[in-house]
Amino acid sequence: MTIGEPRMHYPVPPAIEHPELLTYRAEFPILQRKTYLNSCSLGALSVRSMQGIEQFMEMWNEWGAHAWYEIWLGEITKARHKFAALIGAQVHEVAIAPSASAALSSIATALDYSKRNKVVVADLDFPTLAYQWLVKEQLGVESHFVKSLDRVTLTPALFEAVVDERTALVATSRVFYTSGFIQDIRAIADIAHKQGAYMLVDDYQGTGQIPLNVNTLDVDFLVTGTLKWLMGGPGLAFVYIREGLLPLIQPTITGWFGHREQFQFNVEEFTFRADAARIEMGTPAMPTIYAANGGLDIVQEISVESTCERTRYLTNDLIAQAREHGWTVHAPLEPEYRSSIVMLELEQPQQIVKELVARNIIVDYRPGLLRISPYFYNTIEENAIVINAIAEILAKRA
Ligand SMILES: Cc1ncc(COP(=O)(O)O)c(C=O)c1O
Repeated sequence: MTIGEPRMHYPVPPAIEHPELLTYRAEFPILQRKTYLNSCSLGALSVRSMQGIEQFMEMWNEWGAHAWYEIWLGEITKARHKFAALIGAQVHEVAIAPSASAALSSIATALDYSKRNKVVVADLDFPTLAYQWLVKEQLGVESHFVKSLDRVTLTPALFEAVVDERTALVATSRVFYTSGFIQDIRAIADIAHKQGAYMLVDDYQGTGQIPLNVNTLDVDFLVTGTLKWLMGGPGLAFVYIREGLLPLIQPTITGWFGHREQFQFNVEEFTFRADAARIEMGTPAMPTIYAANGGLDIVQEISVESTCERTRYLTNDLIAQAREHGWTVHAPLEPEYRSSIVMLELEQPQQIVKELVARNIIVDYRPGLLRISPYFYNTIEENAIVINAIAEILAKRA
């Protein structure tokens, strides 16, 4: 595979065991009952997040609505700060949303397609990203798909061939959910900017597992959420909007949380807030904010660098074991492009996943692929458990 230069604008972490991270296993009760290797779908629930949700319920029960002003709004601010620190952003560049799809929909209404009606997406991206612009076909927006030749990787050069002066936005993932490939986002951002287009990153599969700095990557928007590698559960997404763009971002869907003077309750006029929270709409799901703060604390404590080094150590082992069995691994050949999503090309993966669940092993599948995604809390022994179980299931089939 030829990869365009320049690439990987951060030092690519080596594979390091980091056995000290295993002390965190005690924080995740599910790990004591199951072999849990599905963090790219749903990060494990920590004791801290459980305690957070309990704390939320206690306050609701004790204080009722009074908890909003005194405590809950502050809890949202804490989450914003932690996320901003994680991606190298300023806190006023960060907004929250109930899902990545909701955040993307809002941003999609804020772009001007009158002179540039083209949006460039990759065919390996998560569908919800492309859907935002496919539904805008009726408004004259054209979605163009950069096509992967091997269904695993994509090069910046392939984007360069599609992005032009009619392009309003390039929207793609840093890590592909279907192959674990890490894209060279900085190179793609440079291509977008050279043509005067904006760069949006769907980082749902990257944030928490692979280090990131939005300034180094030079992106305009980043959307991600707490479900997976941030271990915060469903119901909370984060959005980064570059400071210089904020005044231009005026979505045509909104709510009272986006108003500059939210608590003036002025029904007859609307002025956007100055910060990224201008894209926020309604009351956030507080239990999720509490759960997310627990997960974000752990991510911060461990550091994304150490997490990434350990998951490289685990995935290298997983891939080596899978190859020893002669299974085709649907992942980038070069280790530096790999993340902690390992796909195996196996027939009827859905059936295998079902049989694994019966053995207390939780992995996932996508069409034609079995997906294993270890995190820092997993072990080499758990890799062996899943690999041996798959081998047994396949042997019974033969
Ligand atoms: C890369 C990516 N983007 C977006 C989503 C969906 O996000 P949401 O359900 O919050 O809209 C997922 C979820 O699986 C994903 O993997």
